Amino acid sequence: MKLPFAFARRFVAAEDLSGTVPIVRKLNTKGLSVTLDLLGEYVSDKSVANAATDAYVGLLKRVSKEDAGDTLKTNISIKLSMLGQKIDDGLCKENLSRLLAVAREEDVFVRLDMEGSDLTESTISIFESAYPHYPDHVGIVLQAYLHRTAEDVARMCEMNARVRICKGAYKEPASLAYQDMPTIRERYVEHMQKLITDGRHPGIATHDDFLINATKSFVAENSIPSERYEFQMLFGVRPHTQQEIASSGYRMRVYVPFGTQWLPYFSRRIRERKENLWFVIRSLFRR
Ligand code: FDA
Repeated sequence: MKLPFAFARRFVAAEDLSGTVPIVRKLNTKGLSVTLDLLGEYVSDKSVANAATDAYVGLLKRVSKEDAGDTLKTNISIKLSMLGQKIDDGLCKENLSRLLAVAREEDVFVRLDMEGSDLTESTISIFESAYPHYPDHVGIVLQAYLHRTAEDVARMCEMNARVRICKGAYKEPASLAYQDMPTIRERYVEHMQKLITDGRHPGIATHDDFLINATKSFVAENSIPSERYEFQMLFGVRPHTQQEIASSGYRMRVYVPFGTQWLPYFSRRIRERKENLWFVIRSLFRR
């Protein structure tokens, strides 16, 4: 049985781009930048992966066309498993190159989201092979809960690559990932400090006041200007806080997912915070 889109509306902008564009414009008007995510993941069929790449190419062109009128401030996020990573790394690399060539031409930045630990090594390796060709148009995500992340952060800083740091949204074993929140927060703070000091325009992606305040304190103590980093939050999560942070002079980018393949993304939001279910129920009754 397919759940109706009304369930996802709190966290997913729309099922198509034309429904999403007005939401992006509204966020931009409020001083918030956007990253657009055309939902989809874990594709196991080559023709679906190629079609997803075509759809992303179309999205890049559309975004840059909208940009010409100076109305959309958005970049793009993508999951490599949508481009064929689970089928064959070669196919995924080919699709990614096709996409990044258009991103460079249209001057739109593309962020590679990080997925489950079965894909971490491959995602980083594909990123590292693409990055030298598109240094200004591709970046990656690292997850603070993984044991390996300190080394990955250090390498990305050496490469001068752009990183979004987040806690991590997938269920991972204790052999690979910290399981308790105090340790994840402690690691997150270390990575945030390293990325802001030695990295290139990092995205500090969290809704957690503890981490937001730790970031604000760190940049204040070290006189780091707000152009050197940005906060990032998800569409529908703490919208008032997003606005407050932007209004007090920090950069804030909102991750706006859209598309028909919203169920896995929606399920992760419900799993990571049970209060999110309450927001969904409320939004079902709101018109
Ligand atoms: P978390 O949900 O852990 O909550 C911690 C605390 O924050 C709460 O106890 C509360 O104090 C406060 N809080 C959180 N939500 C609140 C609310 N709605 N209202 C009030 N207080 C609230 N993951 C991944 O694996 N790969 C990826 O590529 C990405 N990409 C990504 C992009 C962006 C822009 C964001 C914001 C997040 C991701 N994530 C991700 C998801 C990320 O890994 C993580 O699962 C979620 O952000 C949840 O962790 P938080 O730190 O945001 O708060």
